[in-house]
Amino acid sequence: MNKALRPTIEALPASRIREVANAGIGRADILKFWFGEGDQVTPAFIRDAAKAALDAGETFYNHNLGLIELREALAAYANRLHMPAEGVGVDRVAVTSSGVHALSLIDQALIEPGDRVVIVTPVWPNLTAMPRIMSAEVVPVSLTCKNGVWSLDLQHLLDAATAGTRIVLVNSPNNPTGWTMRQHDWDQLLAHCRRHGIWLVSDDAYERIVFEPSMTINGHAPGVLSQVSDDDRFISANTFSKSWTMTGWRLGWIVAPRAFVAQLGKVIEFNTSCAPPFVQRAGLVAVNEGEPSVRQTVARLRASRDLLVSALGGIAGIEVAPPPGAMYLFFRIAGRSGNSVALAKQLVADAGLGLAPGAAFGSEGEGYLRWCFAASDTLLTQGATRLAEFLRR
Ligand SMILES: Cc1ncc(COP(=O)(O)O)c(C=O)c1O
Repeated sequence: MNKALRPTIEALPASRIREVANAGIGRADILKFWFGEGDQVTPAFIRDAAKAALDAGETFYNHNLGLIELREALAAYANRLHMPAEGVGVDRVAVTSSGVHALSLIDQALIEPGDRVVIVTPVWPNLTAMPRIMSAEVVPVSLTCKNGVWSLDLQHLLDAATAGTRIVLVNSPNNPTGWTMRQHDWDQLLAHCRRHGIWLVSDDAYERIVFEPSMTINGHAPGVLSQVSDDDRFISANTFSKSWTMTGWRLGWIVAPRAFVAQLGKVIEFNTSCAPPFVQRAGLVAVNEGEPSVRQTVARLRASRDLLVSALGGIAGIEVAPPPGAMYLFFRIAGRSGNSVALAKQLVADAGLGLAPGAAFGSEGEGYLRWCFAASDTLLTQGATRLAEFLRR
């Protein structure tokens, strides 16, 4: 008998976050902090640009790599933000239908079955699932947590990225921990990848969501886009979702070597063919005029982070430190660091509190809970109160 599905697909774990969220279906009283999404609607000037494009009849297929105006604007954005010595040209930019799709396209273009892909974990589950779908060997390199602060042993990562490794994938600032890679570590990693011909893929979804002045360079987190040239095996995957609060629009982009982008058009053709033109028009306005909005988003998230850190820090048994970036607290509760899915379900059932279980982010995350703090002060305070009452019972 032929197999029904590829065993690789059958072996993929279903989302543990969904498993917990499903336990709360039908309950209007749940405070939901389980998904990685803010509570703010996309700014009006961005929505208006999409409406205007629709009214102007922009409803047709367009270039596989995206509207040339948007690609030019994204190249200019990369140059403005990162100021690379060798400027990013439009031929190094491709528009994709979301950040997750950018990452999936990269995997499709680079991975042959059995290739070794090294990933810093715990991490957003899509980053480990996508190479697995391509039949890669995924090698996690775990961050460690001390006094609520997450850090990377760089040597551990370099040792794992052996010669012959195909991809090293780093998401910094990191979902779920907020860990942000230091410039020194990025520099060492780039040198290592150059030495061994390894592709370095940087998931830059949260590159603008960085709070610590010591970790902030010209409004973005440390990275190597400023140093790489067209000769480097380096790819940045990015998204409009977080910086411009555009999660539902499904728009992202890639900065990569010219030869990679030239081939990527084919891969995009056989996936989605192109991103919707009216969505790209919205993205164009976001990237050209959205700087004040990005700054407001970061300021709001910083205040929310501080509020939640102080509220949870006041609860006995919880140790948290302010994460340097992203929009999550990833924490443990003393005496309850066993099965995080069971604990998250119990919090839904008994406290009406919706958090993501740490196990969703890899076995390294087991015992932790992730709380997305992109929410109003009122909701965050109510949530912390519910958690404190639950633990007192
Ligand atoms: C680490 C990380 N990378 C990429 C993405 C992709 O975002 P999107 O597919 O909405 O563009 C997300 C979304 O949550 C994320 O957390």
